[in-house]
Amino acid sequence: MKRFLYGGCILLLSVSAYLSVYFSIKMLSIDAESKPLPLKKYDYHFVLVPEELDNDYWRLVEKGAKDAAKEHHVLLEYVGPAQADLKEQIKTLEKSAASRVDGLLTQALNEKQFTPLINKIDLKGIPVITIDTDAPKSNRIAYIGTNNYYSGFIAGLALAKDLKGKANVAIITGRFEASHQQLRVQGFKDAVKNYKGIKVITIEESNISRVQAAEKTYTILKEHPEVNAFFGTSALDGIGIAKVIQQFHRENSTYIISFDILPETIAYLKEGVIEATVVQEPYEMGYQAIKMMIAHLEGKSIASSVYTETKVIYRKDLPLVPERNYEVKRQ
Ligand code: BGC
Repeated sequence: MKRFLYGGCILLLSVSAYLSVYFSIKMLSIDAESKPLPLKKYDYHFVLVPEELDNDYWRLVEKGAKDAAKEHHVLLEYVGPAQADLKEQIKTLEKSAASRVDGLLTQALNEKQFTPLINKIDLKGIPVITIDTDAPKSNRIAYIGTNNYYSGFIAGLALAKDLKGKANVAIITGRFEASHQQLRVQGFKDAVKNYKGIKVITIEESNISRVQAAEKTYTILKEHPEVNAFFGTSALDGIGIAKVIQQFHRENSTYIISFDILPETIAYLKEGVIEATVVQEPYEMGYQAIKMMIAHLEGKSIASSVYTETKVIYRKDLPLVPERNYEVKRQ
């Protein structure tokens, strides 16, 4: 028995010695094969903080920003809450400011919290550009994004025209507290207020989640059977609304106007479940924002407010050109 144990130990020792020699030779040969890494040189370090990292709309903003960053030797970090979480977004901004980056780009979700925060960051000497949602009274150096009031207004005009001035409307909005959502709703209401046949019956919040948008749609259909038109004011709302409308076979009697143009929106537009959608230019927002920040850091003067294009489109307008503003590709 003793001899057997002794033999086993010797065998184990020789196997492990063989393996360590084998792997160290292998690692050496990998090192020898790989070329020396070039030292990456960046001119600037920027951070982009959205309200939700893994949102297809924000992935398009990120793509535009990363493309511009690559062209201009900028190190760009895309960080923030995985799922919409205002506190975490604010914390991420504070942390980025503390690490003394060269510039911050963020969506200023609501003026009350973001105006003092941006002003604090500005006092540290870090310039801030707001993207998609503005805090116009803050010391941000510029805003780039949709004119959110106008985008809601044209949604209202389109609905009124398509339904010949007669509809009972339910609105599902991303977040009650977000200023761009409030502006879109206000624009919509102002556009339809001159049509006596159009009533806004109810407004619900989705927390920018397609599942919650679907749940709210279901509840609205139960509680307000007179509703025959929906307006979804953020990228995933229309998708959630369309899912329920299709499930209950109401697509022929219900009109949907959504926001943005993600792959699922395109599918519903093609099927005729969503009639119209308000498009924005998320890629352009990201791309231009980086260029604006660089121009500012180089001492050039930049416009304090840049509105990217927004318009209402229908199935007949597909495919949209250029595609980079709606073609979602994971990086
Ligand atoms: C808005 C973004 C928002 C997204 C949510 C878009 O319409 O512009 O601010 O984060 O919808 O899915």
